Amino acid sequence: MIEGGERMKARQIRPNIHWVGAIDWDRRLFDALVPLPDGTSYNAYLVQGSQKVALIDTVDPTMTGVLMAYLEDVPVIDYVIANHAEQDHSGSIPHVLAKYPEAKIVTTPKCRDLLMALLLVPQDRFITVTDGETLSLGDKTLEFIYAPWVHWPETMLTYAQEDRVLFPCDLFGSHLATTEMYVANEGQVYEAAKRYYAEIMMPFHTIIEKHLDKLSGYRIDVIAPSHGPMYDKPSFIMEAYRSWVFGPLKNMVVLPYVSMHGSTQKMVEYFVEALIERGITVRQFNLAVTDIGRLAIALVDAATIVLGSPTVLSGPHPVVAYAAILTNALRPKTKFASIIGSYGWGGRMVEQIKGLISNLKVELLEPVVTKGYPKDGDFAALDRLADEILTRHRQIKII
Ligand SMILES: Cc1cc2nc3c(=O)[nH]c(=O)nc-3n(C[C@H](O)[C@H](O)[C@H](O)COP(=O)(O)O)c2cc1C
Ligand SMILES: [Fe+2]
Ligand SMILES: [Fe+2]
Repeated sequence: MIEGGERMKARQIRPNIHWVGAIDWDRRLFDALVPLPDGTSYNAYLVQGSQKVALIDTVDPTMTGVLMAYLEDVPVIDYVIANHAEQDHSGSIPHVLAKYPEAKIVTTPKCRDLLMALLLVPQDRFITVTDGETLSLGDKTLEFIYAPWVHWPETMLTYAQEDRVLFPCDLFGSHLATTEMYVANEGQVYEAAKRYYAEIMMPFHTIIEKHLDKLSGYRIDVIAPSHGPMYDKPSFIMEAYRSWVFGPLKNMVVLPYVSMHGSTQKMVEYFVEALIERGITVRQFNLAVTDIGRLAIALVDAATIVLGSPTVLSGPHPVVAYAAILTNALRPKTKFASIIGSYGWGGRMVEQIKGLISNLKVELLEPVVTKGYPKDGDFAALDRLADEILTRHRQIKII
């Protein structure tokens, strides 16, 4: 591990604009919630103008040493641009401020308040900027674009006008550890960026619509996000975002479920066959073993979600409750929902799941719940639910 006192060579993006980030190959969980199958990176950028020097964002506090090694030969930093207060980008700010006593943090008023609360930075170290304000570094000009909710309410984007580089922090990011500066394998980055969108950005998709519209007025040659590789073809990620935000729903049922003793499992197996027969795609997730990131990806454009659960201590199985809470929080565009499952003597499994997904703007289709192992009548009810889903998908013209 790099502890500082060592030198690292910053990687040039444009003359006097360098990547000075940290690659976290081994991290496997983010925000104590999000699985990171491919690690991640925390990208910081050094912009050296003819008069002033700015550092755009920093790195996770666990990797401060890496950033400080890049800054070993940088005698002055005038401004630390804080696009976002979350610690994976702001966490090294106190170290940078300690090394550069004259440096000021440039950010939104909301971000200043959060940084004061989270990192105990004193108020006199801040300069706040308004939406659209610019900051001259001499021959380079930084423009600040307010973009709340990507991913917290305080976020902004920074645009280097002369070089046409956009630094959007979390927006357009991907959790992907790679030595490649720019997207090399489009398929791999598409998947990682979609996972990232699903987990981090999807809850705010209506606001992101407006940000995408606003950005269409900018000439952008490079997008330099704060996680994952940069985009030297910005249209790749812009078009992907447009399709996730504005694109049509798919003729697809997402089916997260769990089963302790096989009854719900049997219902799921029968139901999946019934959906396949009707020409409907299914993404089946056994929550006992699934990576919830894959569930999140499937939710980006599925028309329907059906949750499957046994009844446990009067309610849903706790892992199904978890999936329901997560789905509710991620607010996918999903239009229809239902519940299937099993019970032994009684409980409020269906009512409780309904309560847990109350934020979803979905039409709830009649649940199918069976006492114990499913029988002919239960299979018939599952057929009816599959018919109902087919009818609804036809009504919204996705089949
Ligand atoms: C730990 C545990 C708690 C249970 N609690 C309830 C309950 O509160 N109400 C109920 O109707 N059934 C309860 N059951 C019975 C199950 O819901 C029933 O056996 C169901 O068919 C299991 O479905 P599965 O085979 O998909 O796991 C419980 C079973 C277990 C193992
Ligand atoms: Fe964030
Ligand atoms: Fe982040």
